[in-house]
Amino acid sequence: MAAPWAHRYAQRTKTAKSSIIRELLKLTQRPEVISFAGGLPAPEVFPVARFEKACHRVLQTQAAAALQYGPTEGYRPLREFIVGHMARYGILANVDNILITSGSQQALDLIAKLLINRGDRILVESPTYLGALQAFDLMGAEYVTVPIDDHGMQTCDMEEALRSGPKFMYILPNFQNPGGVTLSRSRRDQLVALSDKYGIPIIEDDPYGQLRYEGEHITPLVVLDRTNLARDDGYKLGNVIYLSTFSKVLAPGLRVAWIVAPPDVITKLVQLKQCSDLHTSMFSQMVVHEVARDGFMDDHVKLIRATYRERRDAMLSALQDYFPPEVSWTHPQGGLFLWVNLPPRVDSSQLLEAALRHNVAFVPGAPFFAAGDQGSHMRLNFSNAQPEQIREGIRRLAIAVAHELEHRTAAVMV
Ligand SMILES: Cc1ncc(COP(=O)(O)O)c(C=O)c1O
Repeated sequence: MAAPWAHRYAQRTKTAKSSIIRELLKLTQRPEVISFAGGLPAPEVFPVARFEKACHRVLQTQAAAALQYGPTEGYRPLREFIVGHMARYGILANVDNILITSGSQQALDLIAKLLINRGDRILVESPTYLGALQAFDLMGAEYVTVPIDDHGMQTCDMEEALRSGPKFMYILPNFQNPGGVTLSRSRRDQLVALSDKYGIPIIEDDPYGQLRYEGEHITPLVVLDRTNLARDDGYKLGNVIYLSTFSKVLAPGLRVAWIVAPPDVITKLVQLKQCSDLHTSMFSQMVVHEVARDGFMDDHVKLIRATYRERRDAMLSALQDYFPPEVSWTHPQGGLFLWVNLPPRVDSSQLLEAALRHNVAFVPGAPFFAAGDQGSHMRLNFSNAQPEQIREGIRRLAIAVAHELEHRTAAVMV
């Protein structure tokens, strides 16, 4: 007799939903669809030749280690590389502060397991990264939200949210996913001061920090937490756990990312990671190290920035040319996304259906809101299509938007 599985699923799985983005990506596989939906890097900038050489070299010189089980903390030379890399951004961590994870998504999952009890409140930006909400939901999180504007999270209005006693804050300071906005320096200063005043730690998720196309780099929260609050404990304590990844600067298929945290927290995370996957693939880590080292990653990031800046500009100018005046959008200084605000009468899920009929796709805004549906937004990705496709895709999308606006106006008048 076949076992009935569904009623045996654990309670926690009841909140687990398939990410709408993953589902959408399936729909957008049709070659005629121009997709602004996924957060996919451009495959044209994957450094394939360098990867080929790196794989060959790793197998030629270190096959036994690459194909063997490895330490949960990660491949030490890669952790050392990350220490050097981050020091240039002012993050003066040590190897003991670093845990390699299988993507930042695993980092979010481990942090959720580490910190969230069922019913704990987490403070998140509104909107925020859908993948983090998925990981937090699974642990039974509830939310307090703080809205964003063009300068990132509105820190001036957040004391009430902090007084409600969130367990931690989850913040995306650079080129936020999905909003595309960046937290200003003055708000960062305010945020670390508030975090200290209320004793509420921050998870700083920074996958896009290096992908800046205009303006000056802004100091990460993990650094401000030390400098502003004069912590001189050598990264042993602190209110900020910092996450970053090789997904957007080398290739997401490798699944290699890292967490920076006080050593005690790393020890605990290591125990949790052991339950999850023992360690991140040694082969992937060694290949990443081989590819990234000797200054290659810095040169490569310059190429990515130039490519994505052109694509962002193509999207901004097409939006300007084709979209109606009732629609507004953010002007991201970096990253992969911009965020479109539609008049409230437009339901962006219905707009997506119309857009797919015109062979163009985007992600509707609703799933990025932790505290309930807000249906009049679109997230547009500009990294994964060529500039001329972007222009054509925005032209098609504008037709769907105009049609939907007309339709909704007519519906209101009936
Ligand atoms: C804000 C944010 N955090 C984490 C991730 C996950 O990245 P990774 O590929 O390292 O798992 C993404 C991916 O798009 C993201 O946008």
